[in-house]
Amino acid sequence: MALSLHNINKSFGNKKVLQNISLQIEKGEFVSLLGPSGSGKSTLFNIIGGLFSPDEGDVFLEERKITNRSGHISYMPQQPSLFPWRTVLENALLGQELAKKTDAEYAKKLLTKAGLGDMLDAYPHQLSGGMKQRVAFIRALLSPQEIMCLDEPFSALDAFTRLDMQKWLLETWEEVEQSIFFITHDIEEALFLSDKIVILSSNPAEIKEIIHVPFERPRKEELLLSYSFLDWKREVTEKMEMGNNELKK
Ligand SMILES: Nc1ncnc2c1ncn2[C@@H]1O[C@H](COP(=O)(O)OP(=O)(O)OP(=O)(O)O)[C@@H](O)[C@H]1O
Ligand SMILES: [Mg+2]
Repeated sequence: MALSLHNINKSFGNKKVLQNISLQIEKGEFVSLLGPSGSGKSTLFNIIGGLFSPDEGDVFLEERKITNRSGHISYMPQQPSLFPWRTVLENALLGQELAKKTDAEYAKKLLTKAGLGDMLDAYPHQLSGGMKQRVAFIRALLSPQEIMCLDEPFSALDAFTRLDMQKWLLETWEEVEQSIFFITHDIEEALFLSDKIVILSSNPAEIKEIIHVPFERPRKEELLLSYSFLDWKREVTEKMEMGNNELKK
């Protein structure tokens, strides 16, 4: 398998955020993480990305232990952290530069496809929030690592642009052997994109449920309006509400 998490625990002060998180993501698999706001999703990604250390537990990439080590996965954080002194194109190329293998023409092609063709030489302060998000997304897409962690990559986009980016992500991902771990609050987005959906509880976050999404690939937009999609949406919504009600007890 590509990525495995072994019994991750993490507290901030005396607040326990993550409890016994164990999970496996196979090579080429698309896995989404759903959970209430503040449950610890970004914290888990920061641990996978090697930016935070877990109190207990380990992160493995194939057989290699990568706990506390950054650079092994391609990671798009929730706040698109672009370098203000670099242009759009230079920011997008950062992951490739670190791997010493840049392809500016391909980067330009992807940026253009994401509607940023006129902004290649602009600086981050000249971009809207949604544009910054797309640059950070393409930077992650261009990075050569085999696993990509995307923390709510499309949250700042309008519904129309968002659907375009989702379809495009699926097309791009279906061509490569990359694994994707994807945080979202949007149940439809999780169902449309994923092979597997992991539902987290909160206070502290534990894995409540892992759902295997049955829809065939390649997935088309029509799927979103099918009865079986709506059935699944209801089911996942109920499972998430169950988690929240338990919290209120
Ligand atoms: N560096 C930190 N220091 C102290 N507490 C933190 C830190 N980072 C996160 N937390 C706390 O950990 C908990 C989980 O935060 P996290 O950002 O992981 O949630 P999330 O599930 O990503 O939420 P959202 O859906 O709103 O993005 C919150 O209570 C937050 O206040
Ligand atoms: Mg978050």
